Amino acid sequence: MSNRILCNTTLACLDDADRGYALVADGEIVIDGDHIAWCGPADALPTAYADCPRTDLGGRLTTPALIDCHTHLVFGGNRAREFEERLSGVPYAEIARRGGGINATVNATRSSTEDDLLAGALQRADALIAEGVATLEIKSGYGLDTETELKMLRVARRLADARRISVQTSFLGAHAVPPEYAGNADGYIDQCCLPALEAAVAAGLVDAIDGFCEGIAFSGDQIERVFQRAAALGLPVKLHAEQLSDLGGAALAARYQALSADHLEYLSADGIAAMQQSGTVAVLLPGAFYTLRETRHPPVQALRDAGVPIAIATDCNPGSSPLTSPLLALNMACTLFGLTPLEALLGMTRNAARALGLDDRGVIAAGARADLAVWDVETPAELAYRIGYNPLSERYVAGRSEL
Ligand code: NIG
Ligand code: FE
Repeated sequence: MSNRILCNTTLACLDDADRGYALVADGEIVIDGDHIAWCGPADALPTAYADCPRTDLGGRLTTPALIDCHTHLVFGGNRAREFEERLSGVPYAEIARRGGGINATVNATRSSTEDDLLAGALQRADALIAEGVATLEIKSGYGLDTETELKMLRVARRLADARRISVQTSFLGAHAVPPEYAGNADGYIDQCCLPALEAAVAAGLVDAIDGFCEGIAFSGDQIERVFQRAAALGLPVKLHAEQLSDLGGAALAARYQALSADHLEYLSADGIAAMQQSGTVAVLLPGAFYTLRETRHPPVQALRDAGVPIAIATDCNPGSSPLTSPLLALNMACTLFGLTPLEALLGMTRNAARALGLDDRGVIAAGARADLAVWDVETPAELAYRIGYNPLSERYVAGRSEL
């Protein structure tokens, strides 16, 4: 039989909300092809597996592989100059209004070849992979025309062929109003964004549909037109909501059974209640909070009280979060937002899977995909605790060890 056993490891299974990390000392995992056939304490191994080949993990900690559920990993150029401007006092929204911000990256992305975009994205993906990521969400949204939106999404799909990583794509045509539609956001949605969405879906490039509901981007009414099209196409939605102000985006997303609402610093009590009702995941993005030197915190305690699942992601993008370290995102989620190290880790495993609508990963359990991270640490809290240190020892993707 093709089963293999990983042994001599502590498991943090994260598979049961009532058992915290769900630690198993002296644990073993039986891998069958791409999934986990059995896991538990060594002394409970079913005799049927007793003679399987074994890999000794040297007493290290095994967790589910990390899932980065919100990134803008594919883009051209960089925005270091805007970083300097913001440090000299120019606000993010002001830079966007002057035609910089997202639109600066739109220009650079439109003028990049597909191969150049792939090369840049691979560098960033490799940084995530090196810290244990095995599933990655990538948004379009720096094209804002059909040709470039499709180009970005093709690059995202090619990334999954170039590396051992799962990629989930989100169409983010409603990210900003491009210069050719300046002052005409409605025209952009109807004449450009929705046709581009149809083309991207027809090409098989879209797993979910996202938008940016904000004063510098799109109103609730405009986003709703995109969500209606998503519903007609049978695709799930998510939304950048309540990042810089409260436009009621999270409640709108919840009305469309969104997988997630993301950012949420300005989320209201009504928004939380709506997310609770619809089971929408709150994706918190400490890298953007940190980079923009935001002072308003997402309402973590109220989300907890309401039982809204919390996920954490890098939001890797060239403007508000040039972050390619999931481990630093875990640390920032604790230090900046007050999450516990357990909540942070759940946010990049089990709850991140849920934010992507994936129910086959994010935990160590029989039947789950064998996407695992093996860490040279004694306790799981060390993953969020250390800063600038990478204890990854091994990464298993669909049952195969590969860093
Ligand atoms: O998630 N909020 C909108 N979109 C991105 C930022 C994009 C950019 O500044 O390039 C975000 O923060
Ligand atoms: Fe984002």
